[in-house]
Amino acid sequence: MARLDPHSYNDSTQPETETLDWKARVDFRTRRLHAEATLTLKEASAGPLDLDTRDLDIRSVVDAQGRPLPYILSPPEPILGSRLRIELPAGLKQLTVRYRTSPEASALQWLLPSQTAGGQQPFLFSQCQAIHARSVVPLQDTPRLRIRYRASLRIPKGLKAVMAASFVGREEHGVEAEEHFEMPQSVPPYLLAFAVGSLAPKELGPRSRVWAEPEALEEAADEFAGVDDMLKAAESLFGPYDWERFDLLLMPPSFPYGGMENPRLTFLTPTLIAGDKSLVNVVAHELAHSWTGNLVTNASAEHFWLNEGFTVFAERRILEALAGPEVAALHAALGRRALDEALHHFRAHPQLTALRTHLSGVDPDEAFSQIPYEKGYLLLRALEDAVGRPTFDGFLRRYLATYRFQALTTEEFVLFTEKELPGALAKVDADAYLHRPGVPPSAPRPRSARLEALDRLRGLVPSEEQVRDWTPTEWQLYLESMPPDTSKDVFRLLDAKYALTKSRNSEVLVAWLVAALRAGWEPALARAEAFLGEVGRMKYLKPLYSVLASSREYRKTARAAFEKNGARYHPIARQGVELILARA
Ligand code: BES
Ligand code: ZN
Repeated sequence: MARLDPHSYNDSTQPETETLDWKARVDFRTRRLHAEATLTLKEASAGPLDLDTRDLDIRSVVDAQGRPLPYILSPPEPILGSRLRIELPAGLKQLTVRYRTSPEASALQWLLPSQTAGGQQPFLFSQCQAIHARSVVPLQDTPRLRIRYRASLRIPKGLKAVMAASFVGREEHGVEAEEHFEMPQSVPPYLLAFAVGSLAPKELGPRSRVWAEPEALEEAADEFAGVDDMLKAAESLFGPYDWERFDLLLMPPSFPYGGMENPRLTFLTPTLIAGDKSLVNVVAHELAHSWTGNLVTNASAEHFWLNEGFTVFAERRILEALAGPEVAALHAALGRRALDEALHHFRAHPQLTALRTHLSGVDPDEAFSQIPYEKGYLLLRALEDAVGRPTFDGFLRRYLATYRFQALTTEEFVLFTEKELPGALAKVDADAYLHRPGVPPSAPRPRSARLEALDRLRGLVPSEEQVRDWTPTEWQLYLESMPPDTSKDVFRLLDAKYALTKSRNSEVLVAWLVAALRAGWEPALARAEAFLGEVGRMKYLKPLYSVLASSREYRKTARAAFEKNGARYHPIARQGVELILARA
């Protein structure tokens, strides 16, 4: 018995799943999927097979001839869910589980028509990372193991289904439609993804289209028009794109993340629609995951930095290629601020601030922070600086070639790097990044002329002349660096001059609202309250609720806003906000 992933019941001595055949009927009335999952194993074998499940109502488990197989569904554990142990008779290679999901399935959010752009049709989407796939399909829910799959979704005829897979066809039967998909590339289970709603496509380039509700489609297509250039830039940095298509799905506002790198179909928050393409670094990030994460995958949540640190590094290389080193440096500076804040936030849990974490008994959603992203980025930057860019680029290519379509651990990364770049890890004190809390003082510091200009304006009201060529990123950096004791007059003047309360750039708006509310500048309150009802992205909900909850005057407003909007947030976001309010 060997359990290699603390977040899965998978036992590495048991057979592995090769393919999944998944059929589900989407019932918006009861908020359930009525489903059947056929698992084909890599080799026939006898003995127990342990699958991960959460809140699944198991109806039957049968073999390929329809004969029942014995199984035990264990009582749920809080983080892992319930182990489904199936006894395999000798020679068995295929089994089918019939089941239905719970209306509370942690991977699914069922939206009312009023929670969509169009307001007429319901919407359903999945979000499986890190360990929510098991609430939708019984499987070996560990990123160490990859599967290929086929899927069919039965949906109301008036709706469209999309999946992070290749579309095969649609048939209509009475009031329902059945849509078929196939995923030819093998993926870890957390990349299983789909959405159902009123959705329409628009072409963006030879390999990309964007899906959105018709009401939002044109704006989305304008915002993401540059995606093909991004793909080409990424390929010239990291090698050929292995997933054939890079389509985008504009999500409803309650989507809890900025983006999710579902293969062939990246999910994106509508808060990226700024009207000026200023937030497309998130698209670059999700695209970069096509190499770092989706192709080369973390072996468990304990090595999450291998996904996100590498991806932030790759994201900034794409940005640098498309927009130049100054823009990449501004993003690195934002990242460093976010890292310092996260380190402060986790100061009572220093062990969670090392890149390599130990997460037995810890929910990955609770351990989530900017640390694997930005501390991971700094380690890779330090290595790049130590060996020089050409050498590091070669290393990166060999890393991707060696581990493609596989998972690895931090320990394997260390062995590989030691072999490929002898002495480099020691030179940058990689141990301090990987195994010790905080950030080593020797960590690279983003530097640029634009950053220095910003530093000189800290806490001051800049002139129109001074902000003339500021990008939204510079506004965000300027606002996030506002000293906490800045007088309300500064906020009044800033808003009068630059109308920040009306900003369409969600990053600038949130940085502005947080700074203004921290200073007690009352006119920011109404916009903050309204915004908490417009979006469900955790990156914005958490700082806004935190700043409101930390002030005696605004605490009531925070509670009232949550009372009003909480039911419409994604369960993961709702939990996060609840925690903030409970601690206030
Ligand atoms: N894979 C993550 C989102 C995620 C992480 C979902 C962990 C569930 C669990 C995605 O690639 C991501 O990092 N998105 C960022 C954007 C990015 C530019 C840093 C986000 O959502 O803000
Ligand atoms: Zn990411």
